[in-house]
Amino acid sequence: MDLNWWFFLAIDQVKGELLESYERIDIFSGFPYNLYLVKDSSFTPQEKQLIDFLAKKLVGGQISSEFVKQLDSKEIQQFLRAFESNVVSLIDLNYLNQKFGDLKTIELVKLNLELLLEDLSIVKNKSIVCEEILNKSIGYRELGVFVEDDFLEEIMINGYGKPVFVLHKKYGVCKTNVLVEEKGFLSGLINKIALTVEKKFDEFNPLLDARLPDGSRVNATIQQVSPKGPSLTIRKFSKNSLSLIKLVEFGTLNSELAAFLWVMVEGIGIEPMNLIVTGGTSSGKTVLLNVLATLIPYNNRIITIEDTLELSLGSRENWIQLESRPKIGTTSEVSMNDLLKNSLRMRPDRIIVGEVRSEEAQTLFTAMDTGHRGCMGTLHSNTAREMLLRLKTPPMSVSESMLPLLNLVVVMERFYEPKKGVVRRVKELAEISRMEEQVLLANLFEYDRLKDKILKTDLPSHLIELLSERVSMTKNELKQEIEVRKRLIDWMLAKGISDMGDVEEIFQRYYLDPAGVLEKLSKYR
Ligand SMILES: Nc1ncnc2c1ncn2[C@@H]1O[C@H](COP(=O)(O)OP(=O)(O)OP(=O)(O)O)[C@@H](O)[C@H]1O
Ligand SMILES: [Mg+2]
Repeated sequence: MDLNWWFFLAIDQVKGELLESYERIDIFSGFPYNLYLVKDSSFTPQEKQLIDFLAKKLVGGQISSEFVKQLDSKEIQQFLRAFESNVVSLIDLNYLNQKFGDLKTIELVKLNLELLLEDLSIVKNKSIVCEEILNKSIGYRELGVFVEDDFLEEIMINGYGKPVFVLHKKYGVCKTNVLVEEKGFLSGLINKIALTVEKKFDEFNPLLDARLPDGSRVNATIQQVSPKGPSLTIRKFSKNSLSLIKLVEFGTLNSELAAFLWVMVEGIGIEPMNLIVTGGTSSGKTVLLNVLATLIPYNNRIITIEDTLELSLGSRENWIQLESRPKIGTTSEVSMNDLLKNSLRMRPDRIIVGEVRSEEAQTLFTAMDTGHRGCMGTLHSNTAREMLLRLKTPPMSVSESMLPLLNLVVVMERFYEPKKGVVRRVKELAEISRMEEQVLLANLFEYDRLKDKILKTDLPSHLIELLSERVSMTKNELKQEIEVRKRLIDWMLAKGISDMGDVEEIFQRYYLDPAGVLEKLSKYR
């Protein structure tokens, strides 16, 4: 047997059975990747012409007069007039040609266009035609189909001549049939992103990290650092913010762990704990941090500090968002550390650092040392122990004696399971304490992968003891409080109350009137 040939076959892409089909997408099992195939839209020739025509018109492009002649029916003329006044007039062409528009304008453009298409008899599939027109003009062009698919978490472009890859919530990483051509849409799209976020992106600044108006996070590189062509990674913003109850529903954490964290983050209104959420890339650190922040009582003043704005604290009023800024032209850099130092002069009750990476770690620990309680943040690492090591070493360089100021570490993990899709779990919850000169780590909860369960360990929590002293409650009273909150979480779960706003309201009501909330709970069992 010709072994080379045999090996070649084995690693070539294999296409298996059809797993799912929706809208323009067919998903097949496969090796080494599942396949995500975008079908050609079955537009009629007339629909195709209209799409091209309207897309060009929307962004002020050149339109061939021959085509206009073909459109010479009364119905179409009427449609075009309405299109000009109800759609084109909404947008600033110069602006949208170069940048992504704000969400409200885009929504309105979409709504009006859809309404107009309703009256046009030559268009059969109104909503798909509408989407295609917007994608081709003011949207994500060939990537539009991926951006519209709510099942996708990430879109990955690896350079010219290569297929686009996507991370699908159910089917993991899939290879798509969309190829990136050298003369295609990519460089234009990347420029548009850079202009939208007003960041420099050129041969002198070949790396771009940004957040788009729709909340997606984008990273791009150009040939200076990625010789095979530009790369683009889009982390899509999940449209429905995830609440604590949603995370429990997904199994990311259980209600017992959620209730424990709730008490620790709130600190019975007196002694909130300092906490860091750690884990690998895209393991759900920021989402969990955001959820924990919703547990902070409304009467606390919160300052959040981030590199790119991601945290969203809903309807809360006493909250300031700070965002770092790189040096652009003559403007000076404002680092996370600058912002953190400044925030200490803003009378914060709570400081939340989006991602701790560098010397801001020292400032954060100094803040904890000078009495700022309930500080929270995320930090990239794989275990609680590794996180402590990263904190101690440069560039963070926090002195070992300060580490026990941090009370809790939540470790997140993301993995893929063929039966469940992409799964995110709290892998461990560890508390930190000091014994003589030693920094101790104790796991209070651990994830058992075989059982897919988060289990409480036998270790006694030293934080319960600490909290009980500070808030003048016995340990048993505190444990009962955790149990009550667990019941409240289970109740919301059973009743399907999982909308971020609703959940937040119940938490805040509980602070105001615990007896009232519990009474409701017992009535509506
Ligand atoms: N528990 C969860 N269950 C399901 N989806 C989640 C969960 N947590 C986060 N996600 C989704 O996963 C994606 C990444 O989440 P997130 O930004 O929180 O990760 P991260 O660990 O902070 O990533 P990074 O390493 O880039 O900072 C988001 O699209 C989010 O909606
Ligand atoms: Mg993050």
